[in-house]
Amino acid sequence: MNVLVLQDYAELSKKGAMIIAEQVNNKKDSILGLATGSTPLGVYKELAQMYEQGKIDFSKVITFNLDEYYGLPENHPQSYRYYMEENFWSKVNLQDENKHIPPSITDNIELACKEYDELIESHGGIDLQILGIGPNGHIGFNEPGKELYAKTHLAKLTQNTIEANSRFFPDKESVPKNAITMGMGSIMKSKKILLLANGNGKAEIIRKTIKGQITTNVPASMLQLHPNVTVLLDEKAASKL
Ligand code: PGA
Repeated sequence: MNVLVLQDYAELSKKGAMIIAEQVNNKKDSILGLATGSTPLGVYKELAQMYEQGKIDFSKVITFNLDEYYGLPENHPQSYRYYMEENFWSKVNLQDENKHIPPSITDNIELACKEYDELIESHGGIDLQILGIGPNGHIGFNEPGKELYAKTHLAKLTQNTIEANSRFFPDKESVPKNAITMGMGSIMKSKKILLLANGNGKAEIIRKTIKGQITTNVPASMLQLHPNVTVLLDEKAASKL
């Protein structure tokens, strides 16, 4: 893993945006894997600014989001589709037909998951996957446990994740219990991966991810097996390395 430690969140966000811009400028029709959460917000802001300044063109870029809560209405302010529209999609010139995210409701979950994987494959796979990391080591909603899943699937959120994400909901009970997420295989097949983490709260899980044993109890530790991972950290997230 190529680990870069930046001074603070602002620097981390600039560096993340630069890496994505380089990818898109080298390949106009790049396939980007996108993440939600607090961590990539700064990167999306930087990219929107670069677009405004004419430094990046998303007209041919195709995006696939990692995951979506299951059971929330599509226009729910905490749905990841809403987050993406609000924080990134509406700010750049991505074409509507090129924005992909798993469904928040479907009458055939298995089929929807299969179709999501097939769509990614049909575009030749993800060129650059952006990842945040949960304090419990999840990537997407691939939660710690005895087993991990390769393909896109319906995942049950752990208590730890429900608690971490409850900050965005009126209470813990309102946090969806399930999500459709890309599996570990979909993530590991990406040609390049960019993992972002900031703040003291991520220091311990970043240590385990980078220096610990590879274990299903820390799904992000699997990234040690990927040939092209860049980890961008601020000094706080890097403080236990
Ligand atoms: P965060 O979430 O960016 O809000 O910390 C990361 C994650 O849970 O994957």
